[in-house]
Amino acid sequence: MPNFSPEQIRHQFPALSESDGRGQPLIYFDGPGGTQVTAGVIAAMAAYLTNANANTHAAFLTSQRTDATLAAAHEALADFLNAPSPNEIVFGPNMTTLTFALSRALARTWRPGDEVIITWLDHDANVAPWLALEEQGIVIRRLDFDPADCTLRVEQLDGLLNERTRLVAVGGASNAVGTVNPIPAIVARAHAAGALVFVDAVHLAPHFPIDVQALGCDFLACSVYKFYGPHVGVLWGRYDLLDRLPAYKVRPSDPHPPGKWMTGTQNHEGLAGSTAAIDYLADLGRSFGAGVGSFPGLTGRRLALKQAMTVIAGYERGLFAHMLAGLQAIPGLTVYGITDPSRFDDRAPTAAVRMAARTPDELSRRLADLGIAAYAGHFYAVSVIERLGLTDKGGVLRLGLSHYNTRHEVDKLLSILSDLA
Ligand SMILES: Cc1ncc(COP(=O)(O)O)c(C=O)c1O
Repeated sequence: MPNFSPEQIRHQFPALSESDGRGQPLIYFDGPGGTQVTAGVIAAMAAYLTNANANTHAAFLTSQRTDATLAAAHEALADFLNAPSPNEIVFGPNMTTLTFALSRALARTWRPGDEVIITWLDHDANVAPWLALEEQGIVIRRLDFDPADCTLRVEQLDGLLNERTRLVAVGGASNAVGTVNPIPAIVARAHAAGALVFVDAVHLAPHFPIDVQALGCDFLACSVYKFYGPHVGVLWGRYDLLDRLPAYKVRPSDPHPPGKWMTGTQNHEGLAGSTAAIDYLADLGRSFGAGVGSFPGLTGRRLALKQAMTVIAGYERGLFAHMLAGLQAIPGLTVYGITDPSRFDDRAPTAAVRMAARTPDELSRRLADLGIAAYAGHFYAVSVIERLGLTDKGGVLRLGLSHYNTRHEVDKLLSILSDLA
């Protein structure tokens, strides 16, 4: 990767210098649960609360600044997702809440016997909101994955689609085993059958460029706290759909998108921080993105963000290859998901592992004792862990890489795991 190395950006993340209590900096492999934020994000949130704190749509100064803060966040996330309009960006507390809001609104337009296809590879936030519709007579069908490499059996999708299918809900990438799903192929099949497509991009967004226009999906959700920002959820939808669908809302609120979907008062300081997270990424793209590819049609911040995420994907891919090779050399250690380096475009840098002699929980605790953050369990991807037969065995240990992780950190992890094995 051109000239990117994490040492050049790590100073921007105050949490990366936190000590583990023994004078060593903490090491974070918990990015899939939430990433650290930049000083710029923290400053933007503090600045909002210091000089712009108000509710929206009044003539006084702080309210005007609040309106500007919200408008800037819609612009920033539209650039991040390459959405045609900032009015297609809906904010909310998190992806889960937004997905429940969307599933309930869609169901108001469906009839008993209509069908939704979900997958076995998804986080429960892209499962439960659709399963809840069974109460209204909606039929749920499930697309399976191949446990050998944890990839979706996309070829079986045509057998599940029919004239009653209203929507296919699929993940962009698995937060448990890292698999990146072939969204354009899924969209083509679903649209040919007349079904809409909802993409849970929470685990995709931190690792790869996202272009909703190129993906062709109808809705896509992600969470800013997974890509260096604060705890804010984002829903993108095609404007005509957001406009037409009967959102659950209070009567006086804006009848048009995105306002009609943004119930109550938003997390304004979180939105200020979200813009700062996007601007951090755009700066990374401007600093390190020259030569990573040509992206015709993109200019300004959209181009910088595409470059940034291409730089991040390339760096993380190399670091993941190094980590995977080291993991595979540890006796008795199993890695789930895609392990063939020639297929690394189809996986995020997130390893799910088990060790013969120790439970995932025990591994997570031992790492924690040594200042390393890594989750064990199912991470709400309960279907994935169930399908892998690991529900009663404590799930897996998840080692998630971010662009701020270094080779030195990975080597330390590998050495500890080797000792534990
Ligand atoms: C793939 C995936 N989808 C959905 C979610 C839920 O996101 P949120 O916490 O914003 O509701 C997560 C959170 O870990 C996730 O990893």
